[in-house]
Amino acid sequence: MLEFWWRPLLALGAIALAALILSVDQAPGTGWAWFSAGLLAYLAYHLSRLRKLTDWLGRGEGDPPEGSGLWGETFYRLYKLLRGRQVAQRKVSADLERMLEAARNLPDGVIMLDEDNRILWFNDAAARLLGFNPDRDIGQFLPYLLRNSRFVDWLMHDGHGQDMNMETPGTPPGNLTLKLVKLPRAQKMLLAHDTTELIRVEAMRRDFIANVSHELRTPITVIVGFLEAFDDMPDPDPVEFRKHIPLMREQSDRIRRLVDDLLTLARLESEPEPREETVDMAALARRLADEAETMSQGRQRVTLRLDSHARLIGNGQELYSALANLVTNAVRYTPADGRITLRWGNGDNGTMVFAVTDTGEGIEARHIPRLTERFYRVDRGRSRATGGTGLGLAIVKHVLQRHQARLRIDSTVGKGSTFTAVFPAERIVPETDVDAAPPPAAP
Ligand SMILES: Nc1ncnc2c1ncn2[C@@H]1O[C@H](COP(=O)(O)OP(=O)(O)OP(=O)(O)O)[C@@H](O)[C@H]1O
Ligand SMILES: [Mg+2]
Repeated sequence: MLEFWWRPLLALGAIALAALILSVDQAPGTGWAWFSAGLLAYLAYHLSRLRKLTDWLGRGEGDPPEGSGLWGETFYRLYKLLRGRQVAQRKVSADLERMLEAARNLPDGVIMLDEDNRILWFNDAAARLLGFNPDRDIGQFLPYLLRNSRFVDWLMHDGHGQDMNMETPGTPPGNLTLKLVKLPRAQKMLLAHDTTELIRVEAMRRDFIANVSHELRTPITVIVGFLEAFDDMPDPDPVEFRKHIPLMREQSDRIRRLVDDLLTLARLESEPEPREETVDMAALARRLADEAETMSQGRQRVTLRLDSHARLIGNGQELYSALANLVTNAVRYTPADGRITLRWGNGDNGTMVFAVTDTGEGIEARHIPRLTERFYRVDRGRSRATGGTGLGLAIVKHVLQRHQARLRIDSTVGKGSTFTAVFPAERIVPETDVDAAPPPAAP
């Protein structure tokens, strides 16, 4: 420190000494005049440094001005202080930007409100879920934008201490859960969570349970009805009892089939990946064609077209149960004298297809997208009469999805339908590679 402080003193001493030497043999007062002139020059020097300092501070950037001694030290320390501040400020700005970026990209909608419920800020999800426009709606009174009386009441009463469910204001229709969080200075944060998928799944679960219960109740009612009737008879006639056994057996079979299908679906959902093997699809197709003949009992003409002997990497048991359903459906929904064709061959872009074509009643286009829904049947009564539960195509879809395959349905009412399982090229073992592949699984 001393080093910087003694320089001004030395300068003052030098001015005084110079004034003293210059005033030797001169008129009295000359020394003071020289001393004053020296002091003025010294002051001018310091003013020029001060000027440089203020210019530099005004610019707020660049290297500090040149300076030595006390000024050099002052410039250096100020420079260090400013640099430190700038670095800290840049870090705070970067942190803030990162947080804003994260808030902007949150999957949930976030809306900041002032004490008068005017919008201060909202993120992209809020814009999407509530249909807000950042160029138009910042600063708007929120109840003007969301004119739902229940929402306005909820907002004005600080959320009544609970979350609120409402439908999304825009299209497509959806559902939201809103949460209000109080912030300091009477500001609020409104959080909007998209519950559309959750509510859809919940509705599906309810429908599913209702459907299962309904499907089970009918056959159980029939069986219980017979049992009660016989139980009420003081002396039941065994011949009479026997007459009803076929119907009771049919209803029990129906319950068993339903439970089997439900268990299959549950297993497909709970097992993450199918156990894989090389499936001999040609052999599987032959077996399915034989079974179709047996089921058909000569009512329809069954043809098998084997355009390829390529094999498939997949689970033989799952593939059999899925493709057997397509074949059963063809037999079930094709009238006598109809034709059913099974084909294993090449599809587009390196895919392989297993297609079941029938000349049956066909399906109206509006039903096609819904056929793979659980329990969906075009003609409920008819399907039930033929023993269908409406779970078959749901199982097919699941099995195919597990093999990265898809189901294509082409149908013309009155002419017939083709159900095609399209398998991706990655699962195919081409005929030329068949010898090199591990031994195929028996389908
Ligand atoms: N080949 C087809 N021709 C005409 N309609 C069909 C055909 N395949 C399926 N369908 C229609 O699609 C519905 C759903 O078929 P799905 O296989 O899921 O159920 P199901 O055959 O009724 O019963 P399940 O297969 O569970 O025994 C059937 O009820 C029927 O209305
Ligand atoms: Mg079926």
